[in-house]
Amino acid sequence: METIWQNVYAARARSMSSSVIRELLKLTEQPDFISFAGGLPAPEVFPVDQVRAAAERVLTERGAQALQYSTTEGYRPLRELIASWMRDDPRHRLPVCGVDNILITSGSQQALDLIGRMFIDPGDRILVESPTYLGALQAWSAYGPQYVTVPSDDAGMVVDALEPALRAKPKFIYLVPNFNNPTGRTLSLERRRRLIEIASRHGVPIVEDDPYGQLRFEGEMLPSLLSLAAGRGPVNTAYHGNVIYLSSFSKILAPGFRLAWVCAEPEVVATLTRGKQGADLHTSTLSQTIACEVAKDGFIARHLEAIRRTYRERRNVMLAAMQQHFPASVRWNRPEGGMFLWCELAEGVDATERLRAAVPKKVAFVPGASFHPCGGGENTLRLNFSNAAPEQIREGIARLGEVLE
Ligand SMILES: Cc1ncc(COP(=O)(O)O)c(C=O)c1O
Repeated sequence: METIWQNVYAARARSMSSSVIRELLKLTEQPDFISFAGGLPAPEVFPVDQVRAAAERVLTERGAQALQYSTTEGYRPLRELIASWMRDDPRHRLPVCGVDNILITSGSQQALDLIGRMFIDPGDRILVESPTYLGALQAWSAYGPQYVTVPSDDAGMVVDALEPALRAKPKFIYLVPNFNNPTGRTLSLERRRRLIEIASRHGVPIVEDDPYGQLRFEGEMLPSLLSLAAGRGPVNTAYHGNVIYLSSFSKILAPGFRLAWVCAEPEVVATLTRGKQGADLHTSTLSQTIACEVAKDGFIARHLEAIRRTYRERRNVMLAAMQQHFPASVRWNRPEGGMFLWCELAEGVDATERLRAAVPKKVAFVPGASFHPCGGGENTLRLNFSNAAPEQIREGIARLGEVLE
């Protein structure tokens, strides 16, 4: 039935259509379904007791403040805590970073939307890796950009392809350098350095989206792009540089907090803050005060150990099961952290069609084509290894093996 609303939607609402894959994945809610399709953390590692105790303390000691409106930039003690992480974390070691560098957002997803709102005009070009994070494409497509893509391989974005792509004069470069969603790939140190050098020579800023960097359970820690690019502007009491860095509490504490942060130079933080005012006034005061209470005494660093242990085990279980059940024509990677791994089926095999065959067997994944903004990747797929328990992983991969045979 046609309703009055169908005549009044904005053009952008029509471009946000529901996909076949989303419809298929709705079926994953059935009982006994094993889904490797979502991007959910392991629920077993949510620190429920610590959050309960922190909430109790916050509500007892400063309940009224925690339930009140707050500033758009975010709860100051939380911003101070994050600024100290950005100075002390060996991946960043920013010589200076203060509250003016930090904006608290309602998830990194909101930070991506605010970047779209404040930086993208219709027709602007944005350079992304292909494949890339679907949520960024969804956030930005509302603002009408054109995507310029650079391919990636096992060492992340192919930086050799960057210079030709920069001739399109993109407004910024977006990438997920650590344990990328969807591929689980990490940008090598050499490529990080070259990326910074090339981007700075062309005067193109970078958006570094890093929700997974702390989930490394193997191998060498790598410096952030933010840290490699720091110090190129006037350094005084705040960080200055050509990188907007995003990270989130979703994967290191719990996504239900809807809490993340932007670290960027003060001018950029102020601009994004203006955009945020119109979006939601501020991020939940209750979430911010409780998360700050949980995090303030070094809890997150200790808690990360448990997360890494769990994810290392689940990745290992998945790799072993794939070795046992997948046909020889399937190739996959071995990420050293994060939550995803990436499979390539034989040339000509369509992963979306394989998903259709997998759903009746009560197992699912995300076909890779959806992460390619300019097409391609039909024979690829993403598997999440963090959410399912080891037993389910073994069973789900065995079912998937039959589908891929
Ligand atoms: C690369 C990337 N960026 C941003 C987000 C959004 O995270 P959140 O809004 O939970 O902070 C995700 C979530 O999965 C992601 O994978």
